[in-house]
Amino acid sequence: MNVLVIGSGAREHALCRSLSLDPAVTALHCAPGNAGIGEVAELHPVDALDGKAVAALATELGAQLVIVGPEAPLVAGVADAVREAGIPVFGPSKEAAQLEGSKAFAKDVMAAAGVPTARSYVCTTPAEAATALDAFGAPYVVKDDGLAAGKGVVVTDDLEAAKAHAAACGRVVIEEFLDGPEVSLFAVTDGETVVPLRPAQDFKRALDGDEGPNTGGMGAYSPLPWADPKLVDEVMETVLQPTVDEMRRRGIPFSGLLYAGLAITGRGVRVIEFNARFGDPETQVVLARLRTPLAGLLMAAATGNLADLPPLRWSDEAAVTVVVASHNYPGTPRTGDPITGLDEVAAEDAPHAYVLHAGTRRDGDAVVSAGGRVLSVTATGENLTQARERAYEAVARIGLDGSQHRTDIAAKAAAEA
Ligand code: AMP
Ligand code: GLY
Repeated sequence: MNVLVIGSGAREHALCRSLSLDPAVTALHCAPGNAGIGEVAELHPVDALDGKAVAALATELGAQLVIVGPEAPLVAGVADAVREAGIPVFGPSKEAAQLEGSKAFAKDVMAAAGVPTARSYVCTTPAEAATALDAFGAPYVVKDDGLAAGKGVVVTDDLEAAKAHAAACGRVVIEEFLDGPEVSLFAVTDGETVVPLRPAQDFKRALDGDEGPNTGGMGAYSPLPWADPKLVDEVMETVLQPTVDEMRRRGIPFSGLLYAGLAITGRGVRVIEFNARFGDPETQVVLARLRTPLAGLLMAAATGNLADLPPLRWSDEAAVTVVVASHNYPGTPRTGDPITGLDEVAAEDAPHAYVLHAGTRRDGDAVVSAGGRVLSVTATGENLTQARERAYEAVARIGLDGSQHRTDIAAKAAAEA
């Protein structure tokens, strides 16, 4: 199978790594990719937001399956353009991607499907926002209605800060605060059949102890030893299948990856958000454990054949990923700094630990930083303790001036397991 992956993050590196290990994949392309992806796939320049350009590239390469990684191209309709060119594509249509692209749309679908989520108001004026904030009380949760790369949400006890964020965004969703641990559960779907993957936990805040601003995600682990073994079945029944059914009922079937961001509250499971694509960095740990070859799974979703797929196979190992970010992330990051130690990790730590690239590019013989999240150092082990030891040993070999990473990824779960 000739496969083209669209995107350039650590998620796309994880996808390409798994695809490169799948014997069914005979040619692997990525556009635009990054320095690390270039080691497992052939890179091509493309404007990932330009559907016509992506479809033309896929046609030229003879791609038999296109996988669209990030949300921005999906919301821009890139999957539609590829589908119109007659090529199977893993990723929802522009309309279906509104499940991620508009928080208000997602709330409407959840209400219609009876999916448990935080009570909320959509507000477009400061007066409406003030009333909604008052109705729920602190802590206040204010979400930009549109895409914001994980940074559009403010959770605060400070009423003035909540009002200021609402005013700055314009259209916002204001909702009740959900208390409890968060879980990311991904499901592969063809619009009808839903196949859940294994749950993972992401660390959204920039600093140890869940301090600091929200980011795109600073690390993740899987499995979740503390979670109820029935969690996946429950979320399938109350969240994933009803949502996919409701989208189909509306005439906008959702095919691709449905990501449920969940809070496990004292009153039960609640959806925090939907995403229309694989999560980053959770994908790094989920794919590290998946034993079913990836290309066949995603092709079955792209072509409406998931019902015929045998059950997924999983490794019993644990996986941990630690994100190494640039100086000043999630603010405007400093870029262009050389990254050292990548060869040492490859020589000393593989195959149990490996580096997935996010914001990197080649500069002559060197690899330099090119974004906020730079690397996602991923490791597997017999349990979370071993996986996190291996991940942090590999992180310690990496040199990047001014870089930052959290030191507590999976620490609590490993200690309690
Ligand atoms: P989102 O972009 O909707 O995933 O929100 C980013 C992060 O903000 C989530 O991962 C949570 O940590 C936090 N958050 C969002 N909504 C709520 C809520 N209703 N209650 C508590 N925390 C929330
Ligand atoms: N890890 C959070 C996200 O992918 O949105």
